[in-house]
Amino acid sequence: MTASLTILRPDDWHLHLRDGAMLQAVAPESARHFGRAIIMPNLVPPVVTGAEAAAYHRRINAALPQDSAFTPLMTLYLTEETDPEDLAAAYHDGIITAVKLYPAGATTNSASGVRNFDKVRPVFERMADIGCPLCVHGEVTDPEIDIFDREAVFIDRILDPIRRATPGLRVVMEHITTKQGADYAQSGGPDLGATITVQHLMLDRNDMLAGGMRPHYYCLPILKRREHREALRAAATSGHSQIFLGTDSAPHPTHAKESECCSAGCFTAPVALSCLAHVFEEENALDQLETFASRNGPAFYRLPENTQTVTLTKGAPVTLPETVRMGQVSVTVFDPGHPLHWSVTAQS
Ligand code: NCD
Ligand code: ZN
Repeated sequence: MTASLTILRPDDWHLHLRDGAMLQAVAPESARHFGRAIIMPNLVPPVVTGAEAAAYHRRINAALPQDSAFTPLMTLYLTEETDPEDLAAAYHDGIITAVKLYPAGATTNSASGVRNFDKVRPVFERMADIGCPLCVHGEVTDPEIDIFDREAVFIDRILDPIRRATPGLRVVMEHITTKQGADYAQSGGPDLGATITVQHLMLDRNDMLAGGMRPHYYCLPILKRREHREALRAAATSGHSQIFLGTDSAPHPTHAKESECCSAGCFTAPVALSCLAHVFEEENALDQLETFASRNGPAFYRLPENTQTVTLTKGAPVTLPETVRMGQVSVTVFDPGHPLHWSVTAQS
C-alpha cells in the first residue's frame, strides 16, 4: 500500500553546518528539503559578533546550490564578554535571529561559553527588551552530576531561575531529551519553546549501549531511558504549539566518531524527514507532522510559514546515502538501524 503526505516545507530550528570543506559537503543536504534553519555558532573560533555572523552567513550562502531557496538564520554565541549593543544592533538589522547559550564545557566547542550566569544578566535583560530569543543548551557542567541527570538539574538550578529573574526573555530549550524537559517546556507559556531532534525521537540509550557501543548514536545531550523517549514522542506528536523540530544534525568526520574518544553528534540532515515520517506514523500521528516540522517553529520565531510544500510517499524500503564525502574524508549519515519506507518524492 502506498500512502503519501504533503506538508508545508519544514524548517530546522537547530542545525550545525560547520565551515570550510565540511560546510561545502553538508549545506546541500539541509537545503534539499528544508526552507530555513537556525545555524549554530559553535565554530572554532565561535561566532561572537554581528560582523562574524554576517561573514558566516555569506560563507553559507556561497556553499548552497545555485538554485537553492534555503535561508540560514544566524545566531551569536554568547560569551561573558558579549556586548549587548552589538547584539541588539545585529538583531535589529536582521543579521541574527537568536543568541545561543552554551554553559562552558557542556558540549562540542563550548569552551568559550558562560561560566558565571550573573555576568550575562545585562545581556539577558537587553534580549528581553528587544524580543530576541535565547537558544539554550540545557545541561549543567558540574562533574558531580551524572551525565544522564544534567538536563533535569539544569532546569531547576539554572533555567528556571534565569526565566524568573528576566521576565519577557524568550527562551528555546534546545534538543530536549527528558520527560522533565518536555513537561517544563509544555507548561512554560508563550515565551518558552523547545526543539526535539530526530535521534531522540527514534532511539534510547539501549540502542547506543546494549550489545556494543555505537559511536554514531553518541550525541549531547546523551540519549536517555526509553520512558524519556516516550515523553518526547508524546510531546512532538501532541501538536503543542511550543514544541518544534530542531534536528541538531551535527556532522563530524567518520574517523572522529569511530575513535577512542568519540565526538558527540549525529549527522541526520539527509534522512531527517524519512525518519520523522516513520516516527509519526508509528505514533498514529502523521497528521501532526506538519505542525511539528513546519508550523510551530515559525510561530514561535514570529516568522511566516513557508509557502512551498514537500510530498512524502511510503513505499518499499528506501536506499539512503550511508556517507557524504568531504574530499578524502567521509561523514557517516545517521542510520536508525531498521528500514525506512518514507521518502520525499515531490516538492513545490
Ligand atoms: C553538537 C556539535 O557537534 O556541535 N553535538 C551534539 O552532540 N549535539 C553540539 C551540541 O549541539 O551540543
Ligand atoms: Zn546542536
